[in-house]
Amino acid sequence: MKSSTTPWSLQHIPEMNWRALLMSVLVLSSVSILFIVRSSNPFSVVELLHHGLGPSTPTSLANTSSVHSNTSAAPHKEDKEEECDLFVGKWVAEPRGSSLYSNWSCPTIPDQNNCGKFGKGSEHLYWKWKPDRCELPRLDPVAFLRMVRRKKMAFAGDSVARNHMDSLLCLLHQAETPTNIYKDGDDKFQTWYFPSHNFTLMVIWAEFLVERAQTQRMINGVATNSYDLYLDRVNPDLARELPALRYVVISAGNWFIKKLYLHENGSLVGCVNCRGENLTELDAAYAYRRVFRTVLQSISKCEQCDDDLLTMLRTFSPTHFEHGSWFNGGYCNRTQPMSEGEIDLSGNTIEYRNIQFEEMGRIKGGSGGGRGDAKRGFELLDVTKAMMARADGHPGSHWRWMQKSNSDCLHWCLPGPIDMWNDALFANVKKHSSTTQL
Ligand SMILES: *[C@@H]1O[C@H](CO)[C@@H](O)[C@H](O)[C@H]1NC(C)=O
Ligand SMILES: *[C@@H]1O[C@H](CO)[C@@H](O)[C@H](O)[C@H]1NC(C)=O
Ligand SMILES: *[C@@H]1O[C@H](CO)[C@@H](O)[C@H](O)[C@H]1NC(C)=O
Ligand SMILES: *[C@@H]1O[C@H](CO)[C@@H](O)[C@H](O)[C@H]1NC(C)=O
Ligand SMILES: *[C@@H]1O[C@H](CO)[C@@H](O)[C@H](O)[C@H]1NC(C)=O
Ligand SMILES: *[C@@H]1O[C@H](CO)[C@@H](O)[C@H](O)[C@H]1NC(C)=O
Ligand SMILES: *[C@@H]1O[C@H](CO)[C@@H](O)[C@H](O)[C@H]1NC(C)=O
Repeated sequence: MKSSTTPWSLQHIPEMNWRALLMSVLVLSSVSILFIVRSSNPFSVVELLHHGLGPSTPTSLANTSSVHSNTSAAPHKEDKEEECDLFVGKWVAEPRGSSLYSNWSCPTIPDQNNCGKFGKGSEHLYWKWKPDRCELPRLDPVAFLRMVRRKKMAFAGDSVARNHMDSLLCLLHQAETPTNIYKDGDDKFQTWYFPSHNFTLMVIWAEFLVERAQTQRMINGVATNSYDLYLDRVNPDLARELPALRYVVISAGNWFIKKLYLHENGSLVGCVNCRGENLTELDAAYAYRRVFRTVLQSISKCEQCDDDLLTMLRTFSPTHFEHGSWFNGGYCNRTQPMSEGEIDLSGNTIEYRNIQFEEMGRIKGGSGGGRGDAKRGFELLDVTKAMMARADGHPGSHWRWMQKSNSDCLHWCLPGPIDMWNDALFANVKKHSSTTQL
């Protein structure tokens, strides 16, 4: 391709003015004009990179594209991926910047995660995740959309699941503009559609993944908010959508600090955070384990679900409040990833991740009571350890409600280290699509 001699370095993608790039290419390269005209999505810069500009620098997206892949090397590469744990590694400096998009090229970033808009610096964008034994390829939006054509993917969980979905939405937006086809009042449920790929992406609010009821009880004369969790029943909104899905990404965690009345087999079995109420006091980890066991089992046994349903469990996402919590002045103002020694290994973070790891092992090992004949895949997006280092990736005081003085050290900036979760998701989608691709 002639235009691979382009003087514009792809390494400046995050800061680059896309319109200027397009105009320059239009003016200078008639070859590219042909491709633009023939492209199904003429103004997709990613499409343009694939067809027109080619792999001119190491940051090129084209490496992961089947169009340019060295097929003779492919089986060898897969063998290597098989033995490489994508989640054992470290963050390494990436001076060129690591994001495929910016708040300019992704118009759907919610204000809560648009850290740049609220004055956060961009230091957190100059790192990439490096697995010890291999590379984690960046999500290639064109290849991704090709693999998920005619399919439906849902993220089920709390606001961090929505944060994850928003990252994917931004990444895919670089290849095709999605249409919002559903949104509830507080954005807890959203559905997006990519018309040229007939791909549907949705987020389902299921903060506990199981059925729950918000309740107010009078405790010592004080009205107290709490939740009743039905540990053996899947969240009904998730259960309703499951049969239509080809991919589901489940996660939970941050709501288990609430006061929780736990029900199992139709009776109240105990309570989390209810000391003094003459109930069996159970710890949150008990509820957490039961929740994942219930959800994984019910997906595994689901009769109406797609035989090829791929379930990805995104492990617990750590928070980084220092010198306090969300409610009492905790903050997170670090500007680079923490070293191994600085990571706080106390608290629930590792315990919750280990519970998820064990429950996933149970299902994959066949002791979860699933259908033996199903080809259903179960994969971990085991991001906990990697994210424990990224205290610098949260909005902190740079968010919409910053005048309220509390910092957000729970959600993640977009763009930011959370985009890595979708690189891992891409790797899993790819792994599970080879056998069913046309
Ligand atoms: C992309 O390909 C180039 C040349 O083949 C190589 O030097 C570079 O490391 C590759 N980058 C990635 C991210 O695989
Ligand atoms: C493909 O990769 C293999 C193994 O790395 C290498 O020997 C071969 O020369 C490559 N072929 C092309 C066309 O790049
Ligand atoms: C994007 O972030 C930059 C800072 O990186 C900020 O100046 C700008 O206002 C933001 N733009 C939008 C549209 O949010
Ligand atoms: C989109 O995909 C679904 C599921 O395969 C199919 O039923 C539907 O007809 C497709 N719609 C279009 C417009 O192609
Ligand atoms: C609920 O029922 C299941 C299966 O019948 C049993 O394994 C479990 O121990 C019961 N749980 C409680 C808290 O009774
Ligand atoms: C605690 O519960 C038990 C069993 O339900 C009941 O017998 C007992 O009276 C209760 N004690 C108090 C202090 O309410
Ligand atoms: C973070 O905030 C604390 C308290 O305001 C301050 O002492 C510290 O210097 C800040 N660190 C950075 C890197 O800005």
